[in-house]
Amino acid sequence: MVPFTASARHTLLNMKIAFVGKGGSGKTTLSSLFIRHLAARGAPVVAVDADINQHLGAALGLDEDEAAGLPAMGGQLPLIKEYLRGSNPRIASSDTMIKTTPPGEGSRLLRLQEDNPVYEACARSVALDGGRIRLLATGPFTESDLGVACYHSKTGAVELCLNHLVDGRGEFMVVDMTAGSDSFASGMFTRFDMTFLVAEPTRKGVSVYRQYKEYARDFGVPLKVVGNKVQSEDDLDFLRQQAGEDLLVTVGHSDWVRAMEKGRARPFAELEEPNARSLEALYEAADAVYEQRDWERYTRQMVHFHLRNAESWGNAKTGTDLAAQVDPSFILREEPAPQPA
Ligand SMILES: Nc1ncnc2c1ncn2[C@@H]1O[C@H](COP(=O)(O)OP(=O)(O)O)[C@@H](O)[C@H]1O
Ligand SMILES: [Mg+2]
Repeated sequence: MVPFTASARHTLLNMKIAFVGKGGSGKTTLSSLFIRHLAARGAPVVAVDADINQHLGAALGLDEDEAAGLPAMGGQLPLIKEYLRGSNPRIASSDTMIKTTPPGEGSRLLRLQEDNPVYEACARSVALDGGRIRLLATGPFTESDLGVACYHSKTGAVELCLNHLVDGRGEFMVVDMTAGSDSFASGMFTRFDMTFLVAEPTRKGVSVYRQYKEYARDFGVPLKVVGNKVQSEDDLDFLRQQAGEDLLVTVGHSDWVRAMEKGRARPFAELEEPNARSLEALYEAADAVYEQRDWERYTRQMVHFHLRNAESWGNAKTGTDLAAQVDPSFILREEPAPQPA
């Protein structure tokens, strides 16, 4: 483990991080290791399980009953909408709020470390080696979630939260999610300061990367490839060839992970040294884009995707003109300017 020094230049961070990739590539495993790494560093973390297969809780050490007992954010959507809407006059009722509805004057914003009704309903506190984190989960996906119908999206609750989140200093939201067409249509893939694409050294593994890269490029989304289950020089060569400069780091087979899966969890400090170094490299890569955070662009893209979703299905579904929900003078910021009375 890399020691945590409070005086280090990079200790004050606030980032939204996504782990994406093909099913089975290791998103959940690497998300959970990164979350543990952050917790061990003393950083406040909100972890979100938005993967098709809901395994983040288990990867963070919850037993079956505890994991199954996590509340589903999808089931709390009415509460989430009602809370976030606040007194925003542009949103007549939470019934007209879709997953892309942007915040505006009067909306309630979420902060990472506060207590609020959304966390109360959806989050559970999880004790890790290094400290406590908050865990939220979308809930299990159904057939209809995986189709093209945007309004069925299980991740809608997460998107609303991301769009209303002002993460303060030294805080992280880490989302374990699927690299699906749904996140491209809704714009969810633009909601992160850094996206780690987990890829195994296989053709299938890197094909998801290629697709993601195209979308990411068009929207200026910072994207890095994390090679997983890399066993040989040949594996490494392959990933280097396929991902070039986007390849940030690789993780090998981990006996620590295997032991945990056998129910023989070991202290996090005993994670293999090379893998621990890879986690620190992820932390540093996130740090490197910190200065590029651009709240205006963030807000602009949120509005862009809202208008697109409004036109393609939202207006028809709600029977209202959802473009009217956009507050043209509102910019989401780290420290929101005082709202006019
Ligand atoms: N670096 C690794 N070392 C050992 N086992 C791993 C590693 N990465 C992933 N696995 C195992 O591979 C399987 C799939 O990983 P998982 O994280 O669940 O993938 P995903 O979330 O992308 O579907 C799990 O059983 C996990 O424990
Ligand atoms: Mg998973």
